[in-house]
Amino acid sequence: MKPRRSVLSVPGHVEKMHLKAGQSHADVVMLDLEDSVPADQKDAARDQVVRSLEAMDWGGKVVTVRVNGLDTPFAYRDLLAVVESCGDRVDSVVVPKVNAPGDIHFVDRMMDGIEMAKGFSRRVGIEASIETARGMDAVSDIAAASDRLVSLVFGIADYSASIGARLVSISGHGEKEEALYPGHRWHFALSRMIMAAKARGLMAIDAPYGNFTDVEGLERSAVMACAIGCDGKWAIHPGQIEIVNRVFTPSQADIDLAVKVLDAFGDAASRGRGAVAVEGRMVDQATVRLARQVYDHARHLKLL
Ligand code: COA
Ligand code: MG
Repeated sequence: MKPRRSVLSVPGHVEKMHLKAGQSHADVVMLDLEDSVPADQKDAARDQVVRSLEAMDWGGKVVTVRVNGLDTPFAYRDLLAVVESCGDRVDSVVVPKVNAPGDIHFVDRMMDGIEMAKGFSRRVGIEASIETARGMDAVSDIAAASDRLVSLVFGIADYSASIGARLVSISGHGEKEEALYPGHRWHFALSRMIMAAKARGLMAIDAPYGNFTDVEGLERSAVMACAIGCDGKWAIHPGQIEIVNRVFTPSQADIDLAVKVLDAFGDAASRGRGAVAVEGRMVDQATVRLARQVYDHARHLKLL
């Protein structure tokens, strides 16, 4: 799977932003038909997204489309139009407010039909947005609902609304929350989703940070998400991409340490040792697995 460190959400009806997104350094461009598009522009946005998918050069990025929620009159048309016209060029469809495995089954079957009808050999992926209490409650079953699934995505604003959490900031985690709650207010929810994703070999993607002028808050938020196992984070503004990419890229120091651990352990194993010391710290098989992940991730990003 290609990296998904930064996922830039782009309103579906604003062509100018599609061009900007195509030229950006985001790993993923997500053309949005849902909440950034007003209700009276849903048809125009769908047409624009199809035109952009057909015409634009995305510079090798992953390109996804967020359809409307399955409980709206728009979603089935979104799926039909996008997958029928562009199923051979869109990487995945992001389904918002997934409440149950049945939501994923519906999208999966519909795509089966469209792909058969069009003779597409490439299968479109699914990314499930977990942003309701019901969806979080069923998150492990959702993660197992289809082999098309690529990632689970945390939707912080809708999740807050769904569970009745107080609105202290519109930015997501990382801004002005310390006064209200000690630690990371979304730690449980995010970790729960990450666990379900990883148990099924899926990526886990964090919600965006809404205050796009607050670079420190964004960095804090991204660092927290990265520290607990997220693979990437949504961005809502091009100015956020560089920070998000950096946070989700292993640093040179991380890579050097990983190489050192792998070398030391290889050497130790050849001498019949199960644990060795590296820089004053114990290294055993579990540490090696962590180091291997950093090493593989760095290779995946062509840093090694
Ligand atoms: N994707 C691509 N380009 C974007 C962009 C995005 N998400 N957000 C802003 N830009 C572009 C603007 O068009 C502008 O381009 P220009 O310099 O060529 O005119 C440039 O980046 C600077 O934008 P700026 O003026 O700082 O922001 P804004 O006031 O125009 O827009 C938002 C601010 C938040 C409304 C806008 O960033 C946005 O719509 N973000 C996406 C919202 C979204 O997708 N929400 C749903 C997912 S949670
Ligand atoms: Mg949402």
